Amino acid sequence: MDFTEIESAQVVAKSFEAADDPRLRELLQGLVQHLHAYVRELRPSTAEWERAIAFLTATGQACTDTRQEFILLSDVLGVSMLVETINGADAHPGTTASTVLGPFHMTGSPRRELGDSIDDAGAGPLCVVEGRVVDTDGRPVPGATLDVWQADQHGFYDVQQPDLQPAGNGRGLFTADAEGRFRFRTATPSHYPIPTDGPVGELLLATGRHPYRPAHIHFLVDAPGHERLTTHVFVADSAYIDADAVFAVKQSLVREFVTVDDPEVAAAHGVAAPFTLARFDIVLARS
Ligand code: BEZ
Ligand code: FE
Repeated sequence: MDFTEIESAQVVAKSFEAADDPRLRELLQGLVQHLHAYVRELRPSTAEWERAIAFLTATGQACTDTRQEFILLSDVLGVSMLVETINGADAHPGTTASTVLGPFHMTGSPRRELGDSIDDAGAGPLCVVEGRVVDTDGRPVPGATLDVWQADQHGFYDVQQPDLQPAGNGRGLFTADAEGRFRFRTATPSHYPIPTDGPVGELLLATGRHPYRPAHIHFLVDAPGHERLTTHVFVADSAYIDADAVFAVKQSLVREFVTVDDPEVAAAHGVAAPFTLARFDIVLARS
């Protein structure tokens, strides 16, 4: 039987019928159905399809150990955020909302003590972040691990500037205390552009989209017996807070980063004035 436009999806989906893993079969058959429907509806020319393949090829070729262009593509298409949304607070009511991991998470953040600074360069305007990790009944989660990372005051992650920034700058692995409390010092985060020097940047440029993310700090929180949480805290008055290039802002994750000028308050936080202070409490789901 010839391959026809009407039957193509069915024929290809059927070719996966013998897959042993039922979820793999479901995912691939669904992909075929939607992909064929897209092609039937939008009718790309051969040249357009070749362009699409070239774009995906370039996306793969741009990936290295420290650069993940496919995550970036998934992010700017809003797919990362959709996956987070259906697996995060929607699935676990009452917990802190999740948001995208992004391409700059590195395994092996330097282990640091509570109160330490993650700003190894010591150049950024000082910020103190503190909070508590609790469960949905408000009980502390002692010993929760918080992996935090952020761009420097110029908007770059350490791995983007290996010749300028020490490895591990802007990153830290903290362990919450017996009351679930954590605190660390950092450079006050600022808004920054996602990388635009690759295929995803080309896509943004070709479509008139800006590349900026509002100021934020990333958190990956783990504790035995609890669901892992991938999230950010966002700076309330940041530029682009209503126009994140990767659609990752949730209002429940936005906090005031308050400027503190009072030397006594600064001393109570173990720093000198002025600094910015942010409080971010985290609620984990029990697993
Ligand atoms: C980030 O916040 O690190 C990020 C997230 C998505 C795309 C690019 C960067
Ligand atoms: Fe970021």
